[in-house]
Amino acid sequence: MTLSAASPIPDITKNHDHILILDFGSQVTQLIARRVRESGVYCEIWPFNQADMDKIKAYNPKGIILSGGPCSVTEKGSPRVPQGVFDLGLPIFGICYGQQVMVQQLGGVVEAGESEGREFGRAYVDVVDVSPITKNIWEKGAHEQVWMSHGDHVAKLPAGFHIIGKSQGAPFALVGDDARKFYGVQFHPEVVHTPHGRELLKNFTRDICGCKGDWTMNAFKDEAIAKIRAQVGGGKVICGLSGGVDSSVTAVLLHEAIGDQLTCIYVDTGLMRAGESEQVVSLFKNHYNIPLIHEDASKIFLHALDGVKDPEAKRKTIGKLFIEVFDECKKQVGGADFLAQGTLYPDVIESVSFTGGPSVTIKSHHNVGGLPDHMELQLVEPLRELFKDEVRDLGRALGMPEDFIKRHPFPGPGLAIRMPGEITPEKLEILRKADMVYLEEIRNAGLYDAIWQAFAVLLPVQTVGVMGDARTYDFVCALRAVTSVDGMTADYYHFDHEFLSRVSTRIINEVKGINRVVYDITSKPPGTIEWE
Ligand code: XMP
Repeated sequence: MTLSAASPIPDITKNHDHILILDFGSQVTQLIARRVRESGVYCEIWPFNQADMDKIKAYNPKGIILSGGPCSVTEKGSPRVPQGVFDLGLPIFGICYGQQVMVQQLGGVVEAGESEGREFGRAYVDVVDVSPITKNIWEKGAHEQVWMSHGDHVAKLPAGFHIIGKSQGAPFALVGDDARKFYGVQFHPEVVHTPHGRELLKNFTRDICGCKGDWTMNAFKDEAIAKIRAQVGGGKVICGLSGGVDSSVTAVLLHEAIGDQLTCIYVDTGLMRAGESEQVVSLFKNHYNIPLIHEDASKIFLHALDGVKDPEAKRKTIGKLFIEVFDECKKQVGGADFLAQGTLYPDVIESVSFTGGPSVTIKSHHNVGGLPDHMELQLVEPLRELFKDEVRDLGRALGMPEDFIKRHPFPGPGLAIRMPGEITPEKLEILRKADMVYLEEIRNAGLYDAIWQAFAVLLPVQTVGVMGDARTYDFVCALRAVTSVDGMTADYYHFDHEFLSRVSTRIINEVKGINRVVYDITSKPPGTIEWE
């Protein structure tokens, strides 16, 4: 029996207090949401221009946060808060542009910063008054580090506001109207460089807005299970597993909810790392006992990639083939009604773009979560409300092994995009071995969790070397390791030289076919994390 497509999907966030974040286009709006979620409070980010009063009232938030943004309130036509927001009787917290726009709309004055008032980077706030927003965090007279990034500044406060903190460039660095529960900060409490920023936001959401703080992954787990059951009914669900965290957590959660109505499909493209397929199969089939189709399609993929050198052509070939193979596997399940995907909240947030126009395609990303709709299956996306770190917590709540939860991301096209030039089975084998040695050393050094992603790349370049008394003419291996928050920007990891020497020696000694190792010290931008 299949439950009809029209089954209403329950909104599990309804049981929790809400905070609304109105986005004015800041680069770090997502960080505000993450800090709020960390305080146990559910929140959503809405573009300022899509928030009308009816929608806001229906969402029923307990407080509103106004984000920063790239515009100047002194410019004509710059974004505004729907004026009715200030009459809702709700607490409001304005950050940077959010502070300025609130002040201006409530009758204060904002001045464009010519030179003196501008502050970028670390700054210090002198706390000059007491307020509920700083309760148990900053005392009057304290001198506190914050992170600033502003040109304009508030010059005159609206009636009812008082100054709580000042900095050198911002005499109104932290202001508030305690009676109306309106607060504004010129600095950014959402970034780690404001050491007490997280607590200030928590004071706002928990104490001032009165949110309960019951948004935990343990609670989410039970609610998500109920929601999946209501959506799926007696239908059949398939879930593509990549071995990555998102699809794995999706699969385990679904299995808890609907048991054997779920079948997972793991397509081995032949472009996986050493031991990868075995690990995935053993975790899902043996440990969780989840019905799993393990499709070894490596021959088909390697055949299709034969002679393909161009990075985009590789990605397109793999993406297309993946869908074909997946469709075939679906038939083995005997038809399915739903496709489960590990879509996360950052994928569904519509950010405000002030640059306009479509952005340039740098790479055609492909993953099992990116399968097209023409498969005519309804989607089950139980992680749609979550950030990556929440997905990891959910994995823990589901009792998944820690080393699986903390795995570095691995791209859908796999080793194909870590091997500029032609892909051959021999080169794949060389790369797998080098990558394994590199990651083993990283784990041995206790560095795995400090790194966002680390991997080896096999270059299509041969160089001359000498081993023993013999000449070698072998490939160059490049090592990549980066730190990042979300993969959008990244810095290369600063290994010490002894570590790099040890890895280089081991790779050259143990991996036949490589006689030179280099370390990639490019950040993103201008580089990307993967090489293709
Ligand atoms: P780039 O190379 O664009 O990578 O800086 C950013 C992050 O995305 C991963 N990546 C992919 N993930 N399918 C994926 O699932 C893809 O096609 C893909 N390409 C890159 C990359 O590993 C890094 O974490």
